[in-house]
Order: sequence, then structure tokens, then C-alpha cells
Amino acid sequence: MSGPSTYDPKTGIEKWLDARLPIIRLAHDSFVSYPTPRNLNYFWTFGAILTFCLVTQIVTGIVLAMHYVPSIDHAFASVQRIERDVPYGWLIQNIHAVGASMFFLAVYIHMFRGLYYGSYKAPREVLWILGCVIYLLMVGTAFLGYTLPWGQMSFWGATVITNILGAVPVVGEPIKQWLMGGFSIDNPTLNRFFSLHYLLPFVIFGVTILHVWALHVSGQNNPAGVDVKSADDTVPFTPYATVKDLFALAVFLLMFAVFVFYMPDALGHADNYIPGNPLVTPPEIVPEWYLLPFYAILRAITFNIGPIDSKLGGVIAMFGAIAVLFVLPWLDTSKVRSMRYRPWAQRFFLVFVVACFALGWCGGQNPAKAVYQAGDYSQVVTYKAADGTEATRTFAAHTPEELAIAVRAWEQDNPGAEGKAAAVVEPFKFTVETFSQLLTAYYFAFFLIILPVLGLRETPRRVPDTIAKAVLDGSKAAAE
Ligand code: HEM
Repeated sequence: MSGPSTYDPKTGIEKWLDARLPIIRLAHDSFVSYPTPRNLNYFWTFGAILTFCLVTQIVTGIVLAMHYVPSIDHAFASVQRIERDVPYGWLIQNIHAVGASMFFLAVYIHMFRGLYYGSYKAPREVLWILGCVIYLLMVGTAFLGYTLPWGQMSFWGATVITNILGAVPVVGEPIKQWLMGGFSIDNPTLNRFFSLHYLLPFVIFGVTILHVWALHVSGQNNPAGVDVKSADDTVPFTPYATVKDLFALAVFLLMFAVFVFYMPDALGHADNYIPGNPLVTPPEIVPEWYLLPFYAILRAITFNIGPIDSKLGGVIAMFGAIAVLFVLPWLDTSKVRSMRYRPWAQRFFLVFVVACFALGWCGGQNPAKAVYQAGDYSQVVTYKAADGTEATRTFAAHTPEELAIAVRAWEQDNPGAEGKAAAVVEPFKFTVETFSQLLTAYYFAFFLIILPVLGLRETPRRVPDTIAKAVLDGSKAAAE
């Protein structure tokens, strides 16, 4: 795609090296003369931002590992020591912890970009699949990393997730024990989690190299989703993409810095400042924000499906939600790549994005909580009135707790009434659980039904023949 090399070594040293290891030629052809579509928008800067995030996590992680102690007796205190005593330890620790969130923020924008502009479609299937592999590895790495400070959420999060593995029939339990190095989360678990947390980012690095290699073979997609046809459609990577990437990175870094310097704990959970204690379960166990949508999908399956019990069903749904991304290139049947020209796909995509946010919200809520409640909880109490006849009184309150308090208060104020309370009548409630179930259904329907069917039935808008034409059309429309 990048065409014949345009690198021309000038100095003697460059010529000498080029004849032995053409590494400058590789860098030049990949990041200087590389032809990029001329219509790329700022969504195409997130690949560079992600590369920056990955390197930052690796560098800060290596420094943290110099001071961190992977033992259940010292892990929590060693992180505190890094934050308080190690020179600039607070900065390194904040960058690493906030950096994980920033990494996921960037990867989600990168993935939604790919979805909207059809970057997963031929000939970029392998590029997309490698991205999915990176995403899976990121989830694993983040989960392992979160256990390391050995706070309450670290310990209990690890307990919940390893228990999930145990739900897999036959092999689940042995794998769980093998991973934990025993029968519960303990010192051996922390040791192996630390070891794997150190290893996986380098695996991500390796897969990222393949990802970018695949990108350079197929060439970049673009907002119009049409292939590069002539030199008119492209501009050289440097200075155009380089400057745009650097500007976007600077803006991203400003936001990153606001979190690091002003609210480093805003994205975490307060309970992780309590040392992990196997004897005290926190009132709520929630993962980090970036895993909440998948946690909501896991909890949405509260019913058995034939021989599959609800627990295993939840695990299948959760992994299925990621697995479906791998086969996406073959699910979307549309001949038009970019949703810019697909009016119906755009609408369903918008609902999909909202559904993902809503799933994230559900993941952080108590499943029994009402999203919508029509009316109040009520209870009829029959009692003996002052004249000896039987009378009734109806109590109503927004929550069962408030109702019980109201009834008890009345009974205490009227000791002789000897009231008999009927069963509590519940109002119609639309719970977080039901909401998550509907959203989960939409999540899967989007990939398995909407995209395959829509691709065959939708009439797209007229797609420009070339990228150059798409740009000219855009500027003509802007001028009008
Ligand atoms: C460590 C994480 C990742 C890094 C460093 C990374 C890096 C990059 C870079 C540098 C590009 C080219 C610039 C751009 O299009 O923004 C790119 C493109 C792309 N990435 Fe990633 N990526 C990562 C994760 C992912 C994930 C998780 C997916 C999807 C599941 C993905 C899918 C894609 C696709 C489809 C393209 C081609 C986009 C196009 O040309 O339209 N990447 N990536």
C-alpha cells in the first residue's frame, strides 16, 4: 500500500546502515512518506494516542515494580509508601492508575470509530481481529493490575472474577484453583497475578506491532470508506498526520493531567484505600468503570436457559459480548463501508452507543433498584377503633423501608389498636435488572440481527467515487 520506498540515504553513515539494516528506511516509509487518506478526521488520531498510553503504562509500571512488594502482608503498605515516601512516587502511581482509565477511554473511542466507519470490513478483517485480541489482553491486564494494591476492591474483585471461572463446567474449577494457586485468593494468587500483569503489556506491545503492520498492508480506511484510487486522494504522513496526531495528543494530555493532578481518585473506588480483608465483604463489589458494561451483561442473565444455569449463562453472555466482535467482519453484510452513507445504520448505531453507556450505568447499580416506579408501596392495617368496631387504614410510601417505618410509628402511637397488617402491595417497578436484560438483548441484536439484515435491505445514500471527491463535496457543502 505504501508503494515503492522513497527513502534516499544522504550521508555516508545512512548509506552504510541502509545496506545492512534498513531501519531508517522502514521508519521513513511508515511515518514520513506513508500516504494517508486526505480526509481523515480527529478520530484517526486515537491510534497514536493509544500508542502513547501503552508506552506510558509500561514505563510507569516498570518504575512502580521497583518499589512494589507482591506479598499479601506488604502489598498495600508498599503502594502507600510509593505514594508518600518514594521521590515522585505519587506522580508515577497517579499516572499509572489514571493512565489505565485514559487507555480504556481512548480504546473505546478507537473501537467505536472502527464500528461507525466500517474499518473492520474487507480487507481489514485481520487488523480488526488483532485489535480485538489487544482489547481482550487489555481487559485481562487491567483486572490483574487492580488486584495488586490489595485493597478491599482488589481482593473482592479478584474473588468474584475467579469464582466466575468456576462456573465453567468440568474445567472451570481446576483452572480456577490453578490460577489462584490454592483454594482462595491468597499470597500465591497475588504473586502470579503480579507476574502476569508484568508480562501481558509486552504481549500487547507485540500484538500492536502486528496490528500496525496489518494496517500498513491494507492501508488506512477513512471517513468516506472508499478506497484510495490515486495520489490525489492522499497526503504524506509527515507533516499532515504527524502534526494532527501531536495536537490531539496535547489536548488528550491536558485532560489526563487534570485527573492526575486534581482528582487522581475520582475514577477509582474509595474502598480500595481499605486493606484487603477476607473476613469483611464490602457492601458493593464493583469493577472499574471501563468494565461495568460487561459486568452488567454478566448479571443480566438471572434465569436458567435449558441445561445452562444462570451463572454459566452470565459468563457465556459476558464473553460472548466480546467474542461477537471477532466475527463482526462477517456479520455486517452491507456493501457500503462507512455509516456516513447508511441512514438507518446510523440510527441503530446511535442507539447502540447509548445502550453501551446505559449498560455501564447499570453495572454500577444494585440490580433490584427501580429505574422507574409507578406509584408507592402500600399496606392495609386492620385495627380496633376507639368505639370497638373494626377499621382499616392504608399506608403508602416510596420504598418498603419507609413504609415499614410509617406502619411501626403508627402502631407505637396507637398501642391499644392491635393492628393486623396485610401483605405489602408492591407498585409496578422497572428495575435495573430488567433494564440490563433489555440492553443486553439490544447489544447482541445489533450484531447478530440488525447489521446482517440491514446490510441487505438498506438503501444507502450515494457514495462518492473517490476520497478527493468526498473532500470537494464536503467543502462545497460547507461553502453553500
Ligand atoms: C493498545 C491498543 C491499540 C493501539 C496502540 C492501536 C494502534 C493503532 C494505530 C496506530 C492505528 C492507525 C491510526 C488510527 O487509525 O487511529 C490503528 C488503527 C486501527 N485500529 Fe487500533 N490500536 C489499538 C487497539 C485497537 C482495538 C482494541 C481495536 C478494535 C477492536 C482496533 C482496531 C483498529 C482498526 C480497525 C484500525 C484501522 C482504522 C482505519 O484505518 O480506519 N485497535 N490502531
